Amino acid sequence: MKHYLITGGAGFIGSHLTEKLLNAGHRVTVIDDLSTGRWENIAHLESGTNFRAIIASADDRQLLEKEIPKHDFVFHLASAVGVKLIIEHPVETVERIVRTTDVLVETCARYRRPLLLTSTSEVYGKSDVIPFGEENDVVMGPTSKRRWAYAAAKMLDEFLVLAHYYQTQLPVYIVRLFNTVGPRQTGQYGMVLPRFVQAALRNEPLQVFGDGQQQRCFCSVFDVAGALVRFEHCPQAVGKVVNLGSNEEISIRQLAEKVIMLLNSKSEIVFVPYEDAYGPGFDDMRRRIPDLHRAKEMLDWQPVIPLNDIIKQLAGHTFDSGV
Ligand SMILES: NC(=O)c1ccc[n+]([C@@H]2O[C@H](COP(=O)([O-])OP(=O)(O)OC[C@H]3O[C@@H](n4cnc5c(N)ncnc54)[C@H](O)[C@@H]3O)[C@@H](O)[C@H]2O)c1
Repeated sequence: MKHYLITGGAGFIGSHLTEKLLNAGHRVTVIDDLSTGRWENIAHLESGTNFRAIIASADDRQLLEKEIPKHDFVFHLASAVGVKLIIEHPVETVERIVRTTDVLVETCARYRRPLLLTSTSEVYGKSDVIPFGEENDVVMGPTSKRRWAYAAAKMLDEFLVLAHYYQTQLPVYIVRLFNTVGPRQTGQYGMVLPRFVQAALRNEPLQVFGDGQQQRCFCSVFDVAGALVRFEHCPQAVGKVVNLGSNEEISIRQLAEKVIMLLNSKSEIVFVPYEDAYGPGFDDMRRRIPDLHRAKEMLDWQPVIPLNDIIKQLAGHTFDSGV
C-alpha cells in the first residue's frame, strides 16, 4: 500500500484518479481549495479509512511542509483551468498556477518526493506541425492576447519542475493532457463537450464557437486516469514530457451533430463568433492532435474508450445546477 497526495483531487480528473488509487488499495490525501472543483466529486469517498481530504490551497507552505513527507508520491493537478476562466480572471489564474507549482516542487525537492505535473496541450500554442510531438517547438501567441497566459503559465510550471530534475535529479514526470472528457466535468469554464451534452439533454441550442470547422480529439477521463497511475512504474519517463489524449479527430460542428444524434435531441446548432464568446482578438487553433508514440513506448498505453461511449456516459451522469 502506498500513500499518495493529489492536489486538485476534488476536480474532474483528480477525483477519478483518487478513486482509481483507492480502488487499488492505496491511501490518498487530497488537497483542494474547491475553486473549480466540487466537494460532491469526492463526498462519497469520505467514509473510507484510506481517504483524507484537506480543503486548502496547495500553495500553503506550512501545510505542504507537514503533508509531503508523509506521502510516497505527489500528483499535482491543482491549477486554474479553462480558457474562459483565464480570460475572465487573468491575475488570479496566472499567479495561482505558477505560485502553487513553485511552492509544491520546492517542498517535494526538500523531501525528495516524486512529483507528476499535469500540463496541457495548450503549451503547443499555435503550432501547425501536426501531430504535436513532445520535442516540437512551441509557437506562442502575443502576450496581448489573454488566452496565451494559461499556456505560458503551464509552460513555466514545466520549466520549473524540469529544473529540479536537471539540478538534483528529483524524479519528476510531466504529462501534457489533451482534451479530457467524462463524468463530473463541468461546462461552466468553457469546456465544450459537457456544454453540448447538457444543452442537448434540455433540447436547447448547442452553441458552436467560430465556424465549427476547428478539429479536436477527445479522450475519456477513465483512459487518462489509467495512464497517470503508470508513470511511477516507468523509470524511462522520469524527467520527460509525455502527451496523453486521443488522436481521433472530429470537428466541433460534427461533435455537436453527433451529440444531438446520440441523445435523440431536438436541439439546433447555432454558430457564435469567437468575439462574442471570448471578447475581441481571440486566437484559436484549427487542429490539435497528440503524437502518442512516447506514451505507447514508455507506458504501453493508448486510449481505448470510443467517443460515442464517452458521450453516453456523460449524458447518464446527473448534472447538478452548478454545471
Ligand atoms: N480537462 C482537460 O481537458 C485538461 C486538459 C489539459 C490539461 N488539464 C490539466 O489537468 C489538471 C486537472 O484539470 P481538470 O480538468 O480536472 O480541472 P478541475 O478544475 O476540475 O480540477 C482542478 C482542481 O484544482 C483545484 N485547485 C485549483 N487551484 C488550486 C490550488 N491553488 N490549491 C488547491 N486546489 C486548487 C480546483 O478546485 C479543482 O478541483 C489541471 O492541471 C489542468 O491544467 C486538463
